[in-house]
Amino acid sequence: MSKEYVLVTGGAGYIGSHTVVALLEAGRNVVVVDNLSNSSEEALERIKKITKVDDIPFFQVDIRDTAGLEKVFDAYPTITSVLHFAGLKAVGESTQIPLEYYDQNVSGTINLTKVLKSRGIKKFVFSSSATVYGDATRYENMIPIPEECPTSGESPYGRTKLFIEHILRDYTLSIPGTYTALLRYFNPMGAHPSGLMGEDPRGIPNNLLPYLAQVASGRRRELQVFGNDYDSRDGTPIRDYIHVLDLALGHLAALKKLEEVEAEEKAATEAPTKGFCREWNLGTGHGSTVLEVIAAFSKAVGKPLPYRIVGRRAGDVLDLTAKPTRANTELKWKAELSMDQACEDLWNWTSKNPYGYSNEPDSTDETPASIKA
Ligand code: NAD
Ligand code: UD1
Repeated sequence: MSKEYVLVTGGAGYIGSHTVVALLEAGRNVVVVDNLSNSSEEALERIKKITKVDDIPFFQVDIRDTAGLEKVFDAYPTITSVLHFAGLKAVGESTQIPLEYYDQNVSGTINLTKVLKSRGIKKFVFSSSATVYGDATRYENMIPIPEECPTSGESPYGRTKLFIEHILRDYTLSIPGTYTALLRYFNPMGAHPSGLMGEDPRGIPNNLLPYLAQVASGRRRELQVFGNDYDSRDGTPIRDYIHVLDLALGHLAALKKLEEVEAEEKAATEAPTKGFCREWNLGTGHGSTVLEVIAAFSKAVGKPLPYRIVGRRAGDVLDLTAKPTRANTELKWKAELSMDQACEDLWNWTSKNPYGYSNEPDSTDETPASIKA
């Protein structure tokens, strides 16, 4: 029998690249599709170094390009499942260019799904986000957040994730023998422990850890802490930070679950009447404040990192901590790595690759020459 492949869209990106490593290390064969709009082909070279697997077919294709996708499936007709990471992900940017977000995320996913349908590919793992819960503190007893928590899209980005979840659920349920996992990630952090692979944001980082990492490496002067007047132990907001390696393994667990459900259905005497679609939170169940994260990362770096308290950031909520028990029991998956480990791995990656994969300063860097006294 010919080799089966897992297609990974967005496989050159931060979470996708770590997941490709997890798949290859588990003995899976992987085909990567990425338009490289927010990543570099160098990530794939690093994956090869880490895994010692040279055969990682790569297609620089946009998921909205039907003909491009068809070529991928023509070349690899034994792709049997898809992990779909490709998309845009910056909340602030999504309020500036919403149509681009709806087009790349929603239209892109519909396009990909149509091609999967025509090719009879029935297992689909989607990168959703805890952002679909909006502000869960609005409800009684919803922290930590269970999958049953009501959802709401609070930004164009958040709405794309929510709409895609609805679309994939409707699609999956309409076709018996189709299997979809909607994975709601909490806050990924960290890097591969080898120091060869990590997050490499373009321009000024939007998120806490990438920004802090650039403060530590001297590219940014100080971190701005967005508000210390929240109702938390130190006044700063609480998030559930998960090591990207744990997150990557969550995808493998979800894929195995879909395969298991498929096998059970095939063995059953009665054929299924609808497809299988399920949401799982991927988080640790433990919340940390911004100041706790700064302290943990400063410890890894070995020196205090400069920060300044400023006003709240629009759209931020007090607490996004996962209740991960559904994934723990149903996927037999649990986040194992500590925040200290994630901080050490992030610093290892940052100190070895201060400018990411390109090895070149960014025009937005606050290098000594550009810092105004
Ligand atoms: P990333 O930007 O590093 O990776 C996304 C990859 O997709 C990039 O390599 C990019 O070049 C590619 N891509 C973007 N648009 C594409 C298109 N139209 N066609 C083909 N390729 C395209 O982001 P990430 O942090 O690895 O996130 C991966 C997924 O997880 C995204 O869908 C994101 O929304 C979701 N997610 C991320 C986080 C997070 O904190 N990083 C949290 C929740 C959910
Ligand atoms: C954000 C997005 C979320 C998305 C996730 C990953 C919002 C409201 N949410 O999550 O939809 O899935 O990124 O892309 O943007 N912080 C600072 N200073 C900084 C940066 C962040 O104090 O320079 C604080 C924030 O106020 C927050 C915490 O750090 O309390 C984490 O922020 P961030 O890393 O941006 O993630 P989220 O806002 O949780």
